[in-house]
Amino acid sequence: MSRSYPRIAALKTAAHFEAHLAALGTSLPFDAVVQAAPESPLAQPLDTSAGRAGNRFAILPMEGWDGTFDGRPTDLTRRRWQRFGESGAKLIWGGEAFAVRHDGRANPNQLCLGPTSEADLVQLRDDLLDGHRRAGLDTADLVIGLQLTHSGRYSRPDPDKRPKPLAAYPHPVLDRRVSPDGPVPVLTDDDLDDLSARLVHAAVLAQRAGFTFVDVKHCHGYLGHELLSARSRDGRFGGDFAGRTRLLRQTVEGIRRDAPGLAIGVRLSAFDTTPFRKGIDNVGEPETSPDDYAYAFGRWDGTTAIPDLDDTRAFLTVLGTLGIDLVCLTAGSPYYNPHIQRPATFPPSDGYQPPEDPLLGVCRQIAVTALLKREFPHLRIVGSAYSYLQDWLPNVGQAVVRTGGADVVGLGRMVLSYPDLPLDVLRGQPLKRKLICRTFSDCTTAPRNGLVSGCFPLDPFYTAHPDHARLKAAKAGA
Ligand SMILES: Cc1cc2nc3c(=O)[nH]c(=O)nc-3n(C[C@H](O)[C@H](O)[C@H](O)COP(=O)(O)O)c2cc1C
Ligand code: SF4
Repeated sequence: MSRSYPRIAALKTAAHFEAHLAALGTSLPFDAVVQAAPESPLAQPLDTSAGRAGNRFAILPMEGWDGTFDGRPTDLTRRRWQRFGESGAKLIWGGEAFAVRHDGRANPNQLCLGPTSEADLVQLRDDLLDGHRRAGLDTADLVIGLQLTHSGRYSRPDPDKRPKPLAAYPHPVLDRRVSPDGPVPVLTDDDLDDLSARLVHAAVLAQRAGFTFVDVKHCHGYLGHELLSARSRDGRFGGDFAGRTRLLRQTVEGIRRDAPGLAIGVRLSAFDTTPFRKGIDNVGEPETSPDDYAYAFGRWDGTTAIPDLDDTRAFLTVLGTLGIDLVCLTAGSPYYNPHIQRPATFPPSDGYQPPEDPLLGVCRQIAVTALLKREFPHLRIVGSAYSYLQDWLPNVGQAVVRTGGADVVGLGRMVLSYPDLPLDVLRGQPLKRKLICRTFSDCTTAPRNGLVSGCFPLDPFYTAHPDHARLKAAKAGA
């Protein structure tokens, strides 16, 4: 038996939706009427250091576990980028995670820096622009960035698909999960100097390929994010706040030197909490007490509406001093607390039943983002975790932007199932209900089982893909 919560699809009217929020003791910005362009708040342009974005929708980075073993895009990768272009969103936040070192690939099919990267990036960007033009849209106000990453303790770089974690510091819970047989190797300061140089090199290639910004990724438990909580680490890249932000500052300095004019963004997990595991009835429970959990950056103890954001504020202040205005806020990690990061009705196969109504996870990310946007008004802030809102995403997204709770509404899973949702909203069309992401999590379960990612239930292309049968078998055996 698992815990179940009212389904969003069953909340047929705005009144039902708002009553459900009230029953949960929470609320969300909500516009009863969704406006079309040009009046819609979501249709207004936004000036950023990377160029003018023609509207307030962003596509969040989403990889597909479908590159070649030598880190190059395949037709599946290209299809995804084309569909990102067709969506009508005018800010492409990163495309997908692009590893800058082989040992930092989250899976053997992740895109990775190599001898053909510049040409590959030109092609992916062209695919995206083609998609945008095919949708009848002008590309002059389309802003495209590339997300640069090292997967740290979540590295599985080789075709054997085995975890080969590389940590920022030893962690009492997470080390056991990724390396039950022994300690996780900790990257040295020299490794991090090398990593910074490769981030800079990748940024240079991205700029040559026509991207106008790069995201130096600091989220989801990957290396950049883990370094922010490396309080126990000795040496130049840990300890005090200056040490924990050194990788970012050193990398920004290098990018400014070697790729002048390229804008820089940061995707940040704005808050975090203890790792969760399956508990009674498979419902998620904290593995250690969230009260004194010393490893979070922006610690949420599970009791307050808003996490402790002192670290986050200090980090956003650093971004201001570095001249960075592009920030995408997300939370937690898809590996150790997925209900915080990616609220869903159905957990991925290696996850747990949600310990709270997933709507609360959405509300938390939206509330934290709004608070930080108000405190850092000069930053261009993209929000995340809207997909679980489903039918009510446009009403909430419009209200958030109208009330200044974020500059841009970021879309993740929803564009895998329903890529042209932004166009439908801006054109005043009713939503195509059959395409609305219902958070089945197959796009996460598939890669966790070594398969390509895609929306298997709702995108006919993936429904017909050979990995669909393998996914069903993997789920049946789970
Ligand atoms: C299949 C899949 C791949 C993802 N890949 C990335 C990634 O490469 N980089 C990243 O920062 N986030 C990644 N994410 C997280 C999303 O960008 C986003 O934060 C998350 O899905 C929550 O937004 P949503 O509710 O709109 O889906 C991925 C999510 C999914 C479902
Ligand atoms: S598989 Fe499709 S419906 Fe399920 S979460 Fe992913 S995008 Fe949404």
